Formats: sequence, C-alpha cells, structure tokens
Amino acid sequence: MSSELNPIMSRRSVLLAGGGLALTTSVRTWPARAAAQSEVRITAAPGRAPLVGASQPQTDVWAYNGTVPGPVVYLRQGEPARIVIENRLDQDTTVHWHGIRLPNAMDGVPGLTQPPIKPGERIVYEFTPPDAGTFWYHPHAHSLEQLGRGLSGAVIVEEREPVAVDRDVLWLFSDWRLTPEAQIDSGFGNMMEAAMSGRIGNTVTLNGAVPSSEPVRAGERIRLRLVNAALARMMALRFEGHRPVIVALDGQPCDPHEPEGGRILLGPAMRVDVVLDMQGEPGRHYRVIDDFYDRLAYWVTQLAYDERPPLGADPRDARLVLPPNPLPEPDLATAERHELTLQGGMMGGGAMMGMGGMMGMGHGVAWAINGRSMTGDGHAGMAPAITFQRGRSVVLTLRNATAWWHPIHIHGHIFRVLSRNGAPVPHRQWLDTIAMAPRDTVEVAFVADNPGDWMLHCHVTDHQTAGLMTVLRVA
Ligand code: C2O
Ligand code: CU
Ligand code: CU
Repeated sequence: MSSELNPIMSRRSVLLAGGGLALTTSVRTWPARAAAQSEVRITAAPGRAPLVGASQPQTDVWAYNGTVPGPVVYLRQGEPARIVIENRLDQDTTVHWHGIRLPNAMDGVPGLTQPPIKPGERIVYEFTPPDAGTFWYHPHAHSLEQLGRGLSGAVIVEEREPVAVDRDVLWLFSDWRLTPEAQIDSGFGNMMEAAMSGRIGNTVTLNGAVPSSEPVRAGERIRLRLVNAALARMMALRFEGHRPVIVALDGQPCDPHEPEGGRILLGPAMRVDVVLDMQGEPGRHYRVIDDFYDRLAYWVTQLAYDERPPLGADPRDARLVLPPNPLPEPDLATAERHELTLQGGMMGGGAMMGMGGMMGMGHGVAWAINGRSMTGDGHAGMAPAITFQRGRSVVLTLRNATAWWHPIHIHGHIFRVLSRNGAPVPHRQWLDTIAMAPRDTVEVAFVADNPGDWMLHCHVTDHQTAGLMTVLRVA
C-alpha cells in the first residue's frame, strides 16, 4: 500500500503512528438480502476483537454474539420480528432499536419503558417494523461504557421488492479510544469532555477493523449504507473521484441528491444511504476521507478497483428512488408549536453557557434543555417536557444555544425537517436524528401518533448522560 496514505491516518491514531500496519485485509461484508429470520438471538458478553489488525494485540471488548459490530439484524418491512437478547455482562443492559417505529414497551429505555435486563437474564423484543431502511441497535443502559466498549450493530429492514443495485454494502463506523496496547481506555465519563465535544477516540474502525479497502468493480452500482455508531465523533465523508447520490437519510427515503460540497455529514447515530456508481478506472484505488475536524483529515477506507473491464457500457442515468415508507404527514396548518432550547457546555473562557457558570450545575451535569437536565440513560419518573394528545401534528423548534455540535434524536417518531436557520430544507428529509451546528435553529414536524414516553436527547453520548435529554409524552 502506498505510504503517502499513512500520514493522514497517523496524525490521529496512536496505533498507526508507527506505520507498521499491513493493509491487506478487506472489509467484512454481509449479504445484501438474508434469508428471512423468524427469530434472532443475540447475546451481549465480553469478548476479544482484532480491531487494529493481525500485527497488533486483540482488544478486550463487549460484543453482541462475539463480534464487533454485532450481527446485522435483517428484518422485513411489515413482518413481525422476534429478537431474544441475553445479558452475559456483569451489569444491567437494554437494547434500543434506533429509528424503528415500535410500541413504547419495546423501545429499550431502562426505567422508562422497561426494567433493565439483569446479568444472566434474557428478554424478548417483538415488533413489526413499518419502515424499510437502515437502522441500528445499541444499549440504552450504561450507554457511554457499553457503546464505547463495542455494543452496537446494524438493522437492515428490507424493502418488499428488492432495489435495483448490483450490491448492497454496509459500512458501520465505530470510534475507539485505545491505549498503545490496543486496549480500551477506561476513563469513561470525564466531565470536562462531557461539557465539550464528548469522548472522541483515536481509532476509527469500519465494520470492526481499521482502514483497509473495499473491493469494487468498474461499472457496478452499489447501495452503500453508512452508519455512525461512534460515541461522539462527527464525520464528513468525501469519496475521491466519485459522486455519491444520497437516497435515504436515517433509513428514510429522500429525493436523490448529491451532498453539499460533495461531503456527506454523518454525526453519531445518523445513517445515510448512498448510491455509488463505480466510475473509477480498473486497477486504481480511491480514498474515502473523513475531514469533519479541521486539520484532522484521515481516510476511512479505499475503493479498490479490480482489473476487470467496466460492467456495462455507460453510466446509468436513472436516479434511484427508493419506495416511500408509510410516514404520517403532519398537518402544518393545525400543528401545535413548541420550542426546545439546548443549553450549557463549555465556552471559550471555561465558563458554562447560559447556566450561571459551571458551579451552577449539579454534579455530573453540563447541559440542559429548557433549563432542565435529565442525566443518565433513562429512568423511572422522568417528567415529560411536553405532552401531546395522540394524533396531533407538532412543529418543534430546536435551538442550539451552545458552542457545540449536537445530533438530536427523538425516539418513536420520524420527523420531517422543515427549515434550518430560517431557510427551507430541500429534498424531503425525514429523520430521527438531526445534526445541529453551534447556534443552529431547526424546525421539525411530525404526527405524535405513537403513545408512550419517548426520549429526546443528544446522541453524543456524554452529552446525553450529562443532561442533554428530555422526555416527550404522547398521551
Ligand atoms: Cu440511539 Cu436514545 O438512542
Ligand atoms: Cu432511538
Ligand atoms: Cu450534544
């Protein structure tokens, strides 16, 4: 592998700084369509994973079914799913099915929607996913440590009819803070970090391995499902020599469009499906670069073309439009309107913003929503910030009054993005997690049709656990 690639990487990774990594393995792949699974069994337990390559020690992780990330859960749109989770960790856990509209009792929030799964216990999640798309699962108990030690996996809900692509490829990104011995740094829950960008690691893996390559063939059309399962790392991907077209956001189909500036924004918990036409030259390699953070660009993988001549003569011009999901359209004329303001966090001078300084916040608290801080992972007795009557259309204005990025997630509902900083948002975007830049104001709308208590929180995990969380109730 050409060594000019390494400098981009080595600036940020302690493990790769020596440049001794053999980039020979290719990414783990999963079949595009799996046999229908009538029952899925997943065990959460300690394990070991070769995160940084065969020449380095394996990493002690917490894993679903022994792999990092966990197995892809393949479901079919509109067909009942039954998933048995067994807890072999030595602490409580739960599983949250991020982005899937399901009954409140299946949502996996400890205390709020279910009792936690105790060590040695097993529980069954049952639901029928109404929407096809790319989703993911992760613990909602001890979230910071459990997600940070490796517990996450993708859920692919297959469309009723297969989509016209040559291959379906999943890239799930995780971010790790590793010691020089390739072990996970145990300092979870650092409050200084929680009041800033959260726990950003030093090693990014793609499907559980450090950057390698994705074998491709000239002329093929790939549906690429991108999932950011990091605790805190924002990502922005560029594809050298290629023009990816975004066809779904957070699993929900949108109008196909090229990303602004050719850069795909992928914050924690966000998913983006792109259609990638392989227009590169046979035999060449093209890097995929994450340059979200200034001066810290590195490459996450490369598209490695084999020598075969292009499949098919011309680039396909047909834009791929995914079949729509049955999302209820909010009625903006009659919608109730509410505002939620995100507050807190560190400012340049070391003061907490709008919170009367750091001293004004309780222990373990760095953030608030409308002046209230819910901390942790979810627990009983969280009073809702807003209560909706079932079936009401809702417009929520979210204001980021902080100096930090926040991917804000709502459970149980998919919202339509109406505007950002006063400008209408194009391409019919429906999301479950919206990236908010410092000082951003966004308006989102949805129909509050799913009864229960639902979390709204930042998906930078240490922001959530340090107070950037609240509850919405649908009565
Ligand atoms: Cu993906 Cu409440 O989380
Ligand atoms: Cu969720
Ligand atoms: Cu945040």
